[in-house]
Amino acid sequence: MIRPFLTLLVLALVLAAPRLDAGDAPFALAPLPYPPDALEPVIDAKTMEIHHGRHHKAYVDNLNAQAAQIPELAGLSLLDLQRQMSRFPTAVRNNGGGHWNHDFFWNLMTRPGTGGEPSAALAAAIERDFGGLDAMKQAFQQAGLARFGSGWAWLIVRPDGRLAITSTPNQDNPLMDLVPEAERGTPILGNDVWEHAYYLAYQNRRGDYLAAWWQVVDWGKVSAHYDRAIAELAPSAAAAAAK
Ligand SMILES: [Fe+2]
Repeated sequence: MIRPFLTLLVLALVLAAPRLDAGDAPFALAPLPYPPDALEPVIDAKTMEIHHGRHHKAYVDNLNAQAAQIPELAGLSLLDLQRQMSRFPTAVRNNGGGHWNHDFFWNLMTRPGTGGEPSAALAAAIERDFGGLDAMKQAFQQAGLARFGSGWAWLIVRPDGRLAITSTPNQDNPLMDLVPEAERGTPILGNDVWEHAYYLAYQNRRGDYLAAWWQVVDWGKVSAHYDRAIAELAPSAAAAAAK
């Protein structure tokens, strides 16, 4: 007699409890856009599996757990969250930044040697603002090397339409409203310089990883990010950037 009652009681409690299963969670881990070994030998399959399946997954899981506690978080797109990050606690900054940064990163890369070249418009902007592609790459690598500890190197479109290179600590990114204004902008390229991104194959040789990484950059994607960033500028800035 007692057993059926307990079963019904447990069932009633389960049904009454707030539920947040995978289908309800506001943020999701997308699959990698290529097999984990696609970027070898530049980035090995094991690094990709751990980086995506554990590190990135942890950012998404933690962010969903925080969204369960902060209802306004669940109503924001991941992009809008970056732009309003100052409203939220540090844990949201770390996990929300980590989610956006890694989504952006996976989709910038392709099989070694298949990434093509910058579009004519992007190449012209790189020439104008850095003096050429090689000079831009050197400056980007230097930004990644100079980042003490963990963080990211970025190529961004500034609000005036000019390209700039910057670096952010931890899982911050140049979209966040809490990043110093002088370092803010729309990322079109970004590289993860946390040790988890390269340590298995490169150990402490971050410079070697940064130099090799260009082989897997998908310039078609970077060029599309550039076009979109310019299109979103105020008309006066877009006109100035075209000069
Ligand atoms: Fe990472």
